[in-house]
Amino acid sequence: MGLDASGGGYMTVPSASERIVANLLTARTGQELSQARNWRIGSALSGIFRERGISNIDQLACMLDAPDNGILSQQVVEALLNNETYFFRDRPMFDHLANSVFPEIERRNAAARRMSILCAGCSTGQEALSIAMLLREQSVRWKDWQIEIVGVDVSHSAIASARAAVYSQFEVQRGLSVAQMLGNFRETPMGWEAKEDLQKMTQFRVHNLLTPLQSDSKFDLILCRNVLLYFGESTRSLVMSLLLQKLHPEGWMMLGAGETVADRTMPLTQIKEATNFYRHNGSSIAA
Ligand SMILES: C[S@@+](CC[C@H](N)C(=O)[O-])C[C@H]1O[C@@H](n2cnc3c(N)ncnc32)[C@H](O)[C@@H]1O
Repeated sequence: MGLDASGGGYMTVPSASERIVANLLTARTGQELSQARNWRIGSALSGIFRERGISNIDQLACMLDAPDNGILSQQVVEALLNNETYFFRDRPMFDHLANSVFPEIERRNAAARRMSILCAGCSTGQEALSIAMLLREQSVRWKDWQIEIVGVDVSHSAIASARAAVYSQFEVQRGLSVAQMLGNFRETPMGWEAKEDLQKMTQFRVHNLLTPLQSDSKFDLILCRNVLLYFGESTRSLVMSLLLQKLHPEGWMMLGAGETVADRTMPLTQIKEATNFYRHNGSSIAA
């Protein structure tokens, strides 16, 4: 047993097998399981244990060592990713988008009438659909505009859910008023499905943020929320610099509540009125 880094109490030091599993997650996604989140390993993997008749983590670690472990290791990585999300998470940030950022993009792109938005680490799609709902509420402003909202995530299962755009009663109520739910979703035997016009505005694909994004667009706005905080410092810088290559030189970056860019070499300026928003300052990344 060792003392919790926060000084808050005692917790178990991860075993060699737990480290093998945690290292697999880091190697594939950059995500680190802090000591405080190590408890997740057992509970997150319980479904895989049941399905495959695995009795403990040591047995799993041996199986991961086998040469033909491709499907199992992918399953383990998927199970350990934290996909927590909900509609209009941190609502004031969406208000800032609607009231300040979108009007400015509208002015800047008035001639081309195009806007591109990237949700990096979009999980099951609620964040991208929240943006689509905001724009739908401003439909007069965006009439005849070509708008693309691209959501990417390393999790295949999260992207499959985002593409299906069907949510349980619990999910659809998290963050939406009844009016928003009824106006933007229709009830089906499978659950609440996003209406077709919202689905048309959004597209989702599997992508690992540790690698360059294949895209011809420079995005006017990139959201990367509640993803960076599970990366180590150098991985965070790598992911930010790859994202910045895809941000318009006057574009906006929106991080999660409480997230800031500590790396001062990044060509970003923090917005005074909304501290989780950054603006590309037009220069390239310092060497
Ligand atoms: C906690 S969720 C946040 C979802 C959403 N951005 C929000 O704030 O509500 C983090 C997401 O980042 C994804 N993720 C983690 N590492 C990633 C990586 N290397 N590349 C792409 N997505 C990643 C996870 O699969 C997960 O769906």
